[in-house]
Amino acid sequence: MGISVIGLNKRYGPVTAIGGVSFDIADGEFVSLLGPSGCGKTTTLRCIAGLEDATGGRISIGGRLVSAPEEGLLVPAHERQIGMVFQSYAVWPHMTVQQNVAFPLSVRGVPTAAATAQVMEALTTVGLGHLAERHPSQLSGGQQQRVALARAIVGKPSVLLFDEPLSNLDAKLREGMRGEIHRLQRRLGIAAVYVTHDREEALSMSDRVIVMEQGRIVQMGTPRDLYRRPNSRFVADFVGKVGLFPLRREAGGWSSEDGTRVVVGDGVAAGTTAIGAVRPENIRLYRRGETGPEANMLAGVVADAQYLGPFTEYVVDVAGASLRAFAQMDLSPGAEVTLGIDPDNLVLLPATEAHA
Ligand SMILES: Nc1ncnc2c1ncn2[C@@H]1O[C@H](COP(=O)(O)OP(=O)(O)O)[C@@H](O)[C@H]1O
Ligand SMILES: [Mg+2]
Repeated sequence: MGISVIGLNKRYGPVTAIGGVSFDIADGEFVSLLGPSGCGKTTTLRCIAGLEDATGGRISIGGRLVSAPEEGLLVPAHERQIGMVFQSYAVWPHMTVQQNVAFPLSVRGVPTAAATAQVMEALTTVGLGHLAERHPSQLSGGQQQRVALARAIVGKPSVLLFDEPLSNLDAKLREGMRGEIHRLQRRLGIAAVYVTHDREEALSMSDRVIVMEQGRIVQMGTPRDLYRRPNSRFVADFVGKVGLFPLRREAGGWSSEDGTRVVVGDGVAAGTTAIGAVRPENIRLYRRGETGPEANMLAGVVADAQYLGPFTEYVVDVAGASLRAFAQMDLSPGAEVTLGIDPDNLVLLPATEAHA
């Protein structure tokens, strides 16, 4: 049953934080809300959790309607069967690990013996069984976040909600915890909504990603769909590095600014101008005069080169734009090159953003 959100609206006085957001999340599905700061991710999550009262729309959790303010229905947070993990671990310093995790159960009046067993089960699940008597100050950041995770799952919630839970951890720990959270969610088999502004987190953990901008959904899809087939410059840019160059329609086909005929794959452009979008790893560099199997060959000049180990990141001036390209060959700024781009790796985008 998962989660169903229909036409969610949230206003703070005159400010519309969420302007009509709709999505479904299946049981067992892991979905990220991805977008820049202030786009409404946290507000959406808190409306699902019941920590914030929605202004309009309907939210169901596990098939039960929990939020329909226009009908006077707002089920309180503690009756929504959710487990939530915050960025600031929000563990209580004066309580032991075991007391922290037991807290949601004591609020619900679960008898002590049953609660103790459930707490130990949750702590064992997150690998903290041996630290039950410690206080949070005696734990690392990663361990504190695991306490928060145990507290979120101890009441056997029907959905898990995460709000940037890894932002306060260092890079290495963050990668490890990504895997752990994902495996835990799989094992529990319940729906998860994961709020983040970190594209790597969203792409690596999610079954589907919902990209938000200014209180609205601008695109949703599998990580692969979003990365390979963005529908706007905003999404193309937000989910990864991308090169954009202007195209115009001439004599039934597309041409770049220098008049080169360009064959594109999928696209959503209407009208006579558009933007071609290509990922740096999908550009093949050739020394000028050499050629390859790609249907598109664009002449360019290397403007900048940064050696990064596995590859060099080049900036190439080409057809009225600068494109990034990853390549292992060794070229200096000023080198004349040809860029090979397969049509399947070239996406057509609208020249102007509808909402810009
Ligand atoms: N309590 C509040 N009062 C007024 N405006 C708020 C409040 N909380 C959030 N907002 C506004 O709602 C918008 C969305 O905020 P938020 O959901 O926190 O974004 P995100 O989590 O994507 O960074 C922002 O413009 C923010 O300023
Ligand atoms: Mg937020």
